[in-house]
Amino acid sequence: MGWLTGVAVGVAALSIGGVVPAAHAAALRGLEAERMSASKGSVLRAAGASGGRALKLRPRGVARTVVRTHGPRAVALRARLRGCRRGSLLVSIDGGPARRVRPGLRWARHRVRALLPAGRHRIAIRFAAPRHRCRAHVDRIRFRRAGGSAPASAGPLRRVPLGTAVDLHDLRHDAAYEQALRKTYVSITPENEMKMDWLQPAEGRWNFAAADALVAYAQRNGLAVRGHALIFGEQTPPWVSRKWLFGDPARTMRTHIRTVMRRYAGRVRVWDVVNEAFDDYGGLKTNAWSRMLGPGYVELAFRYAREADPTAKLFYNEINAETDNRKRAATLRLVERLKAKGLIDGVGLQMHTALGWAPTREQLESTLREYERIGVEVEITEMDVMIGHLDAAESIDSRLLGQADVYRDAATACAAVAACTRFTVWGVADAYSWKGIEERPLLLDGALQPKPALTAVRQAIG
Ligand code: XIL
Repeated sequence: MGWLTGVAVGVAALSIGGVVPAAHAAALRGLEAERMSASKGSVLRAAGASGGRALKLRPRGVARTVVRTHGPRAVALRARLRGCRRGSLLVSIDGGPARRVRPGLRWARHRVRALLPAGRHRIAIRFAAPRHRCRAHVDRIRFRRAGGSAPASAGPLRRVPLGTAVDLHDLRHDAAYEQALRKTYVSITPENEMKMDWLQPAEGRWNFAAADALVAYAQRNGLAVRGHALIFGEQTPPWVSRKWLFGDPARTMRTHIRTVMRRYAGRVRVWDVVNEAFDDYGGLKTNAWSRMLGPGYVELAFRYAREADPTAKLFYNEINAETDNRKRAATLRLVERLKAKGLIDGVGLQMHTALGWAPTREQLESTLREYERIGVEVEITEMDVMIGHLDAAESIDSRLLGQADVYRDAATACAAVAACTRFTVWGVADAYSWKGIEERPLLLDGALQPKPALTAVRQAIG
């Protein structure tokens, strides 16, 4: 059956124009479920929509609803603008990255670039517009049956949000970078600005300016933010180690996690709580935290994170754990244990790779399925593919095609596994990569133009 069954609605900062029939007002404010034919799926209509009524959103107004679906559904809105020509509806599903819909002055149906798997989903629609007088009208949200039958050439296998690491300095000083970012990606990860050495360079001296600016930028532009990374041995400031002798390291950890997560609560919904804890042999790396708190530091960090923002999704993020090796085994064990305690929601696989040294599609897919089996989400969080600038034997063009294959394989593996919920690359374009421009490791080239790799990723995940 294709019905949308349970519907509850909470609406904030929303003008419904006084059209809600009194009988509905208490239970369903704004949208109500209405049956369509079984083949077409289901529709939410604005209360009284049969009489031509609509939800009316002011700039920054938000409408929320919860729906339950019994199979994959494609989502579309019927909407129009009033009082201005430019404005966007930002649709976010289950707190994920916002998908932008740009209505015009006439009523029209707009596809939301998202596919709902079966289950219960929270949908939030926010209206962003430059003019105070502007209104967005929405009178229907349609959920069409989807999935299964579409041939590969007709579109992506499954839409998965595409994200990138971002550097605030580049964003501020390079207009082309900023444009390419907005055009290509729907999610950002601060490349360094949320690491501890940046946020708390000295004890109690907080340096939030850059992270605040990135989060505000993301909000203005309807981009999701991955918080990266609360506890990371490598970018922990030196003062932390001194807590061993003269302080309370657990308290230091707790204060850091609480202060950062609470500041961004509701705006940063996914956090890498611990980053790169394991060595290549599957043992814990030695760092300031493990020295002071022992191997329990990882779980402790997750406990503090859960307590700091119970609504955030908590991730463990790891490098070189995509293929069947000892680090993968250790990561799986850790995640299984944390999941049993209710402390983790997902795993990030970084996917820093190189031509000739990258997981195959099958290897990655089997790792993604392992996490699916445990019952957590899994994201590709930092992908790049170095082409090997010293290897002169093969032409650059042919290496760029090989690189596109590596990206295609990874994106296809992600598309094939429902638990894979986001695909992030480690930089907007080659010129900004931490690996150096000569490695050309990303989806856009030095001039911010699309590479074969971008086409390959788009074919797989939209
Ligand atoms: C890197 C940044 O890209 C560099 O700018 C910085 O100098 C070092 O860190 N794994 C991670 C990321 O989780 O935080 C790292 O980012 C790359 C490897």
